[in-house]
Amino acid sequence: MTLDRILDARLRQRVVSADTAAAFIQPGETVAMSGFTGSGYPKAVPMALAQRIEQAHLLGQPFQISLMTGASTAPELDGALAKADGIALRMPFQSDPDARNRINEGKLDYIDIHLSHVAQHVWFGFYGQIDTAVVEVSAIREDGALVPSTSIGNNKTWLDLARKVIVEVNEWQPEHMAGMHDIYYGTALPPHRRPIPLVNVDDRIGETALRCDPDKIVAIVRTNGPDRNSPFTPADQASRDIADHLIEFLKHEVAKGRLPPNLLPLQSGVGNIPNAVLAGLARSGFRDLEAFTEVIQDGMLDLLRAGVLRVASCTGFALSPEANEEFKRNIDFYRERIILRTQEISNHPELVRRLGCIGMNGMVEADLYGNVNSTHIMGTRIQNGIGGSGDFARNGFLSVFLSPSTAKNGSISSIVPMVSHVDHTEHDVSIVVTERGLADLRGLPPRRRARVLIDNCVHPDYRDQIEDYFDRACRDSYGKHTPHLLPETLSWHQRWLDTGSMKP
Ligand code: COA
Repeated sequence: MTLDRILDARLRQRVVSADTAAAFIQPGETVAMSGFTGSGYPKAVPMALAQRIEQAHLLGQPFQISLMTGASTAPELDGALAKADGIALRMPFQSDPDARNRINEGKLDYIDIHLSHVAQHVWFGFYGQIDTAVVEVSAIREDGALVPSTSIGNNKTWLDLARKVIVEVNEWQPEHMAGMHDIYYGTALPPHRRPIPLVNVDDRIGETALRCDPDKIVAIVRTNGPDRNSPFTPADQASRDIADHLIEFLKHEVAKGRLPPNLLPLQSGVGNIPNAVLAGLARSGFRDLEAFTEVIQDGMLDLLRAGVLRVASCTGFALSPEANEEFKRNIDFYRERIILRTQEISNHPELVRRLGCIGMNGMVEADLYGNVNSTHIMGTRIQNGIGGSGDFARNGFLSVFLSPSTAKNGSISSIVPMVSHVDHTEHDVSIVVTERGLADLRGLPPRRRARVLIDNCVHPDYRDQIEDYFDRACRDSYGKHTPHLLPETLSWHQRWLDTGSMKP
């Protein structure tokens, strides 16, 4: 017999429908919801809220909220609220196509910030009062503590700071996740901060459940629905080549004595290329690896099962339906090897630097000197957001950026004279990898960085063009330290906008 997931008798009295719960949210409120890369987001209240907003709009009544989460969520949250024109302001990260379109049409304000900054900026008071928190959990303990589900994100901060709280208890989430979470309650505001006592990836420094003042909980909704769970796409050849270049480089670093045989804790972005890197690691001969990352995807579960990865620390999951079933089936195995933390800890610069993480993230484009654009297509259209890439790029032992050398069927070169938007400056980027090869930019001055990038990463279709630009820039540029021909720098992007190709 399955036990009721709500063990606190007082709180069981507050179970209501999603519609009733959504009615606690008023127009103009700042609403902070759970959710990180499509895991652990509330499934019912956002949909009910979207309906309420639509009805209000039909009656000619304005109704929008400011919405904060951990990171991206799902169509039932970002999608539904964006379609209902219910979001005035969104932060700190999202990847939903409907919300993206509204942002790029200028109809939805979006603040894209480092994921490690979110909780502290809210505590600093930069975003005003949080009116309502809507947080998914997997259970409520007898003492009223909330057992998180598949992501923690900023939930601790939301529950601490919100004036009122709505809890969704999702029975689809594995009951036996309890014990996997580690919620650190030692953070303080400057000038009272102390070192965070985490020196190993698997250190436990906190509590296994979230505290919440029961008097603030205005409604509890029972749900039973899956996380976003996007199907897994097998890696294509370019992704496999990128993975091979990176793994060869890591082996070289071990041989040179710059990395230990089991590397340093890995951080991996989500998507096809990072998954291919993880699959490559499975075949690489590396053992006893560790991950200090934000998101666990299919490839990491495979590495844990194969014993290649010893332990993984994260704040959320992004699993395919098959991997999710596997995770649930073997929850006891994974509970010993995975620790979920708040995102202020999973992405904390102090910890990323102390542990010496190897950050591996996707990019839109890089320029000749190693500045990286992770977010904006043609400099103006936001794709997703910076996410945690900056937390790891600036503070990690190595910061690696990965991309195919071309995009949009070869009509775009991912290595350009000057990036059309900068997320990671040349000072934060050590390695760039395309399917053509790997550019090791460490210890190189600007013109030598450009040489290595051109030689190793540019697609042959664009090689002469970029070589020509660089030669002329070296000859005619005002300064020769970082040569550029300013009127020409972004002409590649403009040409694509005008003609559909960066080729002349
Ligand atoms: N110029 C123009 N468009 C480009 C491009 C370039 N150089 N590179 C990629 N794109 C477009 C693709 O064509 C695609 O557009 P489409 O969906 O309209 O076809 C879109 O960007 C996404 O590209 P895709 O190849 O599917 O990339 P991806 O899933 O590997 O994601 C990023 C790449 C950069 C968008 C992704 O890594 C990201 O959002 N990074 C920032 C956040 C981050 O690093 N988080 C890490 C911690 S979780």
